Order: sequence, then C-alpha cells, then structure tokens
Amino acid sequence: MNAAILVAAGKGTRMGAKVDKLWLEVAGRPVIAHTWQRFNDAQCIGEIILVVRDGMQNHFTELAARFHFPKPFRIVVGGVERQDSVCNGLAALAPETAIVAIQDAARPCTGEALIAATIEAARETGAAVAAQAVTDTIKETCDGKTILRTVDRSKLWAVQTPQTFRVEVIRSALAEVRRRGLNLTDDTAACELIGQPVRLVPSMFPNPKVTVPGDLPFIEMLLRIHSTSNS
Ligand code: CTP
Ligand code: MG
Repeated sequence: MNAAILVAAGKGTRMGAKVDKLWLEVAGRPVIAHTWQRFNDAQCIGEIILVVRDGMQNHFTELAARFHFPKPFRIVVGGVERQDSVCNGLAALAPETAIVAIQDAARPCTGEALIAATIEAARETGAAVAAQAVTDTIKETCDGKTILRTVDRSKLWAVQTPQTFRVEVIRSALAEVRRRGLNLTDDTAACELIGQPVRLVPSMFPNPKVTVPGDLPFIEMLLRIHSTSNS
C-alpha cells in the first residue's frame, strides 16, 4: 500500500497571522482542506496520516466530516521540528505500507499526477521529490545587502513536496540524521547523508507553499483555476 503523511504541526510564524496559516480560508475553504482533498482524491494513496499540533485533533476530525473525506486517515501529534513531525508520522504507518509520500499540508495545489509520478519514481529509485528547475537569475550575498557573485543556475532545482520514499529508505535516512544530531528541513537531505539517490520529478503545474502573506493571492488564483477546470 502507498500512504501519505501530511505534516500539519507547524506554527506558521512567517505568516504572522493570528490564525494558523493552515486554517486561513483560501478559495472558499481552509488551506489544509485543499491539501487533504487532493490526497483524499488521489487513487494512488491508500491511507493518510495527519500530523498535527496537540490540541488540534478535534478540528481535523471535524474537517473530515465537513468535507466528507472518505479515505481512511489517522491523526498523530507532531514534534518541535518538521523532521520530528515526519518521524511521528512514519511511526504511525500501517505495517503493510511500501511507499510513503510526505507532503507539506501548507502546499494545497499539489495534483494527483504529480503525486503518482513521485510514487513511481520512488518505487524505482527508492526516493523522489517534486521539483522545479530554477528560472530566476541567482545571486549570492554575504550580508543580505550587496551581491557577492552570480551563481550558475543551470544545475539548480528548487525542491517541493511530495517527497516520496520506500518506507525502509526514509526510516534509515532519518535514523542517520538522529545519530548525527542534525536538524534538516527537507527529507531528501537525509537521503543524501546515506548516499541514497533521489530522483527529481518536475512539477507540471505550479506547486507553491503558503509561507508569507504575499503567497496567498497567487495560490487563491491557482485553486480557483483548478476548481473551475474540474467543474
Ligand atoms: N511542520 C510540522 N511540524 C513542525 C514544523 C512544520 O508538521 N514542527 C509542517 C507545517 O505545518 C507545514 C510544513 O511542515 O505544513 C512545512 O513547514 P513550513 O512551511 O515551514 O511551516 P511552519 O513551520 O508552520 O511555518 P514557519 O516556518 O513560518 O513557522
Ligand atoms: Mg517552518
């Protein structure tokens, strides 16, 4: 079976809003409801694990009832850092899970074709990640004020989620992270530590994350286009 872990236990500090960013209404429903809907509808996913902040469990159960998400799901409590939340999600997987897609709950535009493509690539390679080739010219700076030099962007990719793995691969990669006492914001970086190749899967549609207030109008537009094209 393939499972998804939606990591939803962050604080959303960069958003600076009074409400957790995952509960901000975008295109008619909370951000988390869009993300959950995409994984609920994806035929390639059998079960969903939601990793949430302690005290939020009832809000997630109510959301499933409100939007009629029929796919089996489980709710577990997250940790201080994103990688702790991922570990708690991995611990909750059903024993028969072969492949797991780890998704930022704050990334509501991820489509089924992309999820399926990362699963196929992870089945072959062990690990895969949704990503986009960098298109802006990239500069390096030492002080955040002046440019030091121009970086060759031809080899640069921005990685997103889903980050998708054979279960035993991500478990051993994160065990190595713990052994070295590191804190990583990205699960594929854990694979790099153990020499596990990670396949880049190009996102065919914009797949942004809700991080700062300026992200919201673009994401609202993308979600409205999606709901119109599905109606
Ligand atoms: N996340 C999590 N557990 C944490 C930290 C983050 O489950 N301890 C989740 C967030 O809920 C989000 C995803 O990881 O869906 C990506 O993280 P990010 O965009 O950084 O969200 P936050 O950590 O909530 O935001 P910020 O860094 O601005 O505080
Ligand atoms: Mg964060």
